[in-house]
Amino acid sequence: MEENHNFKKEFDENELTTINQQLNVQLKERQEKIQELEILIDTISTKFADSIFRFVDVLSAIVTFQEKYYETSHSRFVSKYSARLAKELDLGEEAILNCQVAGLLHDIGKVGFKDSIMIKFPQEFNEKERMYYNTHCELGRDILKRFSEFEIIAEIIYQHHEYLDGSGFPQGLRDKQIHPEAKIISIVNTFHNLVYKVRKEVDPRTISLVTQTTLPPSKADIGGTRFLSAMKFLHERAGVHFEKRFVEAFIQIMEEERKMMGQKVISRVPVHKLQSGMIIYQNYYTPSGLLIASSGDVIDEDSKRALIRFAEFGVLPSNILVLK
Ligand SMILES: [Fe+2]
Repeated sequence: MEENHNFKKEFDENELTTINQQLNVQLKERQEKIQELEILIDTISTKFADSIFRFVDVLSAIVTFQEKYYETSHSRFVSKYSARLAKELDLGEEAILNCQVAGLLHDIGKVGFKDSIMIKFPQEFNEKERMYYNTHCELGRDILKRFSEFEIIAEIIYQHHEYLDGSGFPQGLRDKQIHPEAKIISIVNTFHNLVYKVRKEVDPRTISLVTQTTLPPSKADIGGTRFLSAMKFLHERAGVHFEKRFVEAFIQIMEEERKMMGQKVISRVPVHKLQSGMIIYQNYYTPSGLLIASSGDVIDEDSKRALIRFAEFGVLPSNILVLK
């Protein structure tokens, strides 16, 4: 009996060891499977994020086609400085990204608008034109909400002409009802319109590449009359139309920018000698009118490679104007 009991005990132990070993193998296999799945999810997410950014880039290129009434790219300016303002206000990574994307696409609802509307400043509209113009917020939202990833961006775009006191459009929202990123876009959008909107049509297709590089310095207005009156305009409407704290932070950013610009000098630099940190001085377009480098863009390694390629293809001069 005693012998049997020992045998059973030994058998149990052996059995348990085997089961344990099998479980360990299964566990290892599962861990490997999970790791494979994690890598797969990472790859899909990266590819998906990459596709979204490419999609934004394509939409943004469409938007820049209708920016011929500006001295510098309106959408790129609004994107860049809205993101910078969101960062300055410590609103977090998501808000910064929202500002970048919504800034690029906030006027997508104007694509296809008549030139007779686009050339005017809002205060010059008659009632019919105003109603037509005001539809761009809703149109922009309707274009972007087709893509569920852009739900928040679509809402920010829908609200980018709302004012704190409810006098904005299209919904007449008030203060807390307005998305913080929409409040940011509203400030930067207003500033850029006041400083860089031009009355005359500038069709890049009618300007030769040689003429482009000898255009008068558009960036000179930073610190000029329009810059200062735009600052005054925002300051006077802080707390009424625009969030006071946001306006103060924006004015500080632009003042810093003004000082920085004052210290830089304009130079004509061969494209292959461009360096990260240099700033594109004026807009450059392809012969078909597509904006490839915008005044105020800070050059990095990626944009440098792209500019060299454009110069090799002959769509960009081999020497370009930069601030350094
Ligand atoms: Fe707008």
